[in-house]
Amino acid sequence: MPNDKSSPLNTGEFPAIRMRRNRSDDWIRKLTRENTVTTADLIWPVFVIEGEGKTEDIDAMPNVRRYTVDKLAEKAKEAYDLGIQAIAVFPVVDDAKKDVEGSEAVQENNLVCRAIRGIKAAVPHIGVIADVALDPYTSHGHDGVLRDGKIQNDQTLDILCKQSLIQAEAGVDIIAPSDMMDGRITSIRTSLEKNNFQDVKIMSYAAKYASCFYGPFRSALQTGQCLKGDKKTYQMDPANSDEAMREIALDVQEGADIVMIKPGMPYLDIIRRTKDTFRMPTAAYHVSGEYAMLRLAAEAGQIDYKASLMESLHCFKRAGADMILTYGAFDAARILQNV
Ligand code: PBG
Repeated sequence: MPNDKSSPLNTGEFPAIRMRRNRSDDWIRKLTRENTVTTADLIWPVFVIEGEGKTEDIDAMPNVRRYTVDKLAEKAKEAYDLGIQAIAVFPVVDDAKKDVEGSEAVQENNLVCRAIRGIKAAVPHIGVIADVALDPYTSHGHDGVLRDGKIQNDQTLDILCKQSLIQAEAGVDIIAPSDMMDGRITSIRTSLEKNNFQDVKIMSYAAKYASCFYGPFRSALQTGQCLKGDKKTYQMDPANSDEAMREIALDVQEGADIVMIKPGMPYLDIIRRTKDTFRMPTAAYHVSGEYAMLRLAAEAGQIDYKASLMESLHCFKRAGADMILTYGAFDAARILQNV
């Protein structure tokens, strides 16, 4: 405190101390900057569709597109050339292929597996991440098997393991379980080990909240209209923080390599607490609703998109995130590379 002479915060008094001196010019602001964002911090989440040579706009997410596998491979190359290290692939599954158990999730030639192979063939050195959860594949839009009105935890685990294995076989680098079933990291890690996929990493959606900020993502995947009810019996209550620490502790013990907090900006306190408590590689997911808010406010002429994106990314770094999943990754990489 300023009056306590022994405190490190007792830095002196005005006018000897003028905080504005170090803010006078751009060069000194840069020299004294505590946190930086680089392209190597960015993960780009992308949507993949069936077909060839096509891209589609997404109304709910201005400037985000869905790509067929061939187009996505081209985009992944561009992203990698801009310095983006990893891409997270989300498949848009035809309604005809959805059922109560999400059986398309375990078909080894399904869309996400073809996308993984396509990206890896075109850009071998970009990291490829794929979600493990059933929601793109279920007719009810839930992340697990629904029976008697309840999401069945243990039965879902078996399917998640199979889903992880086919994605590993397709060449995925990181499995990202986003389902929030209990015990899933142990189950998936065990089956990866048994099947000789020791190097496949797990980025667990460790503290994933039941958030309304996922709305635009569900429109992008066309899962929103199928979703019956909400996800509150498995995703976390936004009011909780200690519970997030328990979730993360479990995922770390069970074998997660990276822990993720989701959503991002409204949960910076959780990111900081996670980093301080566990010292684990920590990812933040700047989710679809957060991205859409920036874009829509910019379209309304109220904020500058690029500035708001870069400010958001700095906030994630300041809060302790090592890496950030953001739909603005491509835009941010361009800003950072001045192209
Ligand atoms: C699926 C999943 C969701 C997101 C990532 N994986 C949505 C959900 O749980 O309903 C949200 C991503 C975003 O909003 O950007 N389990």
